[in-house]
Amino acid sequence: MEELREEFKKLIELRNKISKGDSEYIKKQHEKGKLTARERIDLLVDPGSFVEIGAFVTHRATGFGLETKKQLGDGVITGYGKINGRTVFIASQDFTFMGGSLGEAHAEKIVRVLDLAIKSGSPMIFLNDSGGARIQEGVDSLKGYGDIFYLNVKASGFIPQIAAILGPAAGGAVYSPALMDFIIMSRKNSYMFVTGPKVVKAAIGEEVDEYSLGGAEIHEQKSGVASLVGETEEEALNLIKKLLSYLPSNNREDPPYVKSEDPVERADKELDSIIPTDPNAPYDVKEVITRVLDKDTFFEIQPNWAQNAVIGFGRIGGRVVGIIANQPMYLAGSLDIDSSDKISRFIRFLDAFNISIITFVDVPGFLPGTVQEYGGVIRHGAKVIYAYSEATSPKITVIMRKAYGGAYIAMGSKHLGADYVLAYPFAEIAVMGPRGAVEILYGKELASLKDMSEKQEFLNRVAKEYRENITNPYVAASRGYIDDVIFPSETRTYLARALEAFASKKKEERQINKKHGIMPV
Ligand code: HXC
Repeated sequence: MEELREEFKKLIELRNKISKGDSEYIKKQHEKGKLTARERIDLLVDPGSFVEIGAFVTHRATGFGLETKKQLGDGVITGYGKINGRTVFIASQDFTFMGGSLGEAHAEKIVRVLDLAIKSGSPMIFLNDSGGARIQEGVDSLKGYGDIFYLNVKASGFIPQIAAILGPAAGGAVYSPALMDFIIMSRKNSYMFVTGPKVVKAAIGEEVDEYSLGGAEIHEQKSGVASLVGETEEEALNLIKKLLSYLPSNNREDPPYVKSEDPVERADKELDSIIPTDPNAPYDVKEVITRVLDKDTFFEIQPNWAQNAVIGFGRIGGRVVGIIANQPMYLAGSLDIDSSDKISRFIRFLDAFNISIITFVDVPGFLPGTVQEYGGVIRHGAKVIYAYSEATSPKITVIMRKAYGGAYIAMGSKHLGADYVLAYPFAEIAVMGPRGAVEILYGKELASLKDMSEKQEFLNRVAKEYRENITNPYVAASRGYIDDVIFPSETRTYLARALEAFASKKKEERQINKKHGIMPV
């Protein structure tokens, strides 16, 4: 057999070295219950589809012993591959080399694939597992973060950007994910914070461990930073694939259409009885959503944060839609600071990628009280109004029950440019609910009635009158603010027809010429 050329032998040797990694550190990584950067990529992409870019890159830094501390790839594996046949660009941080810390060369590799993702109009996936800025590289590592952030912003709204947090994300490491569209955390071994426990202790004397400060539970329930949490790394990676199945590769494409076996004419009789007759009785809006969508297509985002609003993707007649709904099971479905942030950000994502926005309304108003007012519910609520008004994707709204006051306007009303508004026959649309209205309008009369049963009888009578004359959906329909009043069981069919009719809606509406609006972010 002919002897291999020396150059080929060297390439084979280098390739082996790159794919094997450092066994001692890989063992440590596995002992923590974590996968390696390469194992993660293998689980994420279609078998054999990954093409690595920049595997020979090493840092050029000196000092602190860095001259001898080098590894091919510099702690991040970058390249492209396919997920369900569609190209994605990937950066996967390798904690086994210097804790996945980000130095100049490491950052350049991420910038390179992000730039290629933009140029080719394909999603960017960033698998994070890093101790943050590489301390020895000082300002060069800060520059590296800055370069990544800059490109994240450039890519925003053009290609979907998804971050998974599969280990630490400390300091600057949190902001690239935060600038991307979705953050998926793994339940074990992942945490995110701007300043770690030691700095927290030194700065404000608070004692807290990594997971209580920034673990998956914190970010899925309290901060809203995590879009989704996978119980394991494998599940987190699967969530990326599932999410991508609803998204176009860039803002010029339509989201993937999947032929549905579920007939759009399917009338769901159960829907007619899910919403209780008592306007104050709660029900689970997800029951309504899942019955209206194609079977098993509802994919909820941020399910455990700001639960008074429900957001997620789904399909109707195979077309991808974004769902926004008030959830009467939490805070009576009212809008507050967090739910306003949740809704407005999601609308902006849907609109950027031309995904139709379907809004299910049952909202008694904005949540009252000092906590909300001091926290700036005015600023946050304004985001919802801004986002709906600005969005040019098809906007279809279903008023299920209550739609009161500013929250009625904010939740995708005709007045903010909804293309089509439907209401159920028991919808209540007014400045406020009957009880509050009667107390304001008839305060003197009520005060003069001393007998409690007389008072109650008066209240009931006037409230009934108010409902019949003011809040019923036919008042709004007579003015054209509602396009039709339908049975709940007909919702799916009406929505499917509207989605088909509006599918060709122009992506950009004529705007007043300006640099950009000033969203109340
Ligand atoms: C250089 C780092 C590093 C870093 C970890 N390592 N973080 N090297 N710069 N930021 C190295 C360690 O020295 C060690 O090297 C190896 O990675 C593994 O780290 P361990 O500490 O042994 O691992 P573990 O016990 O799992 O702890 C992981 C960790 C911890 C929690 C992430 O390493 C840590 O606290 N690192 C520092 C986090 C941090 O404060 N980063 C800077 C944030 S400030 P050896 O050779 O011993 O194996 C920031 C500012 C940027 O990012 C702002 C931009 C806007």
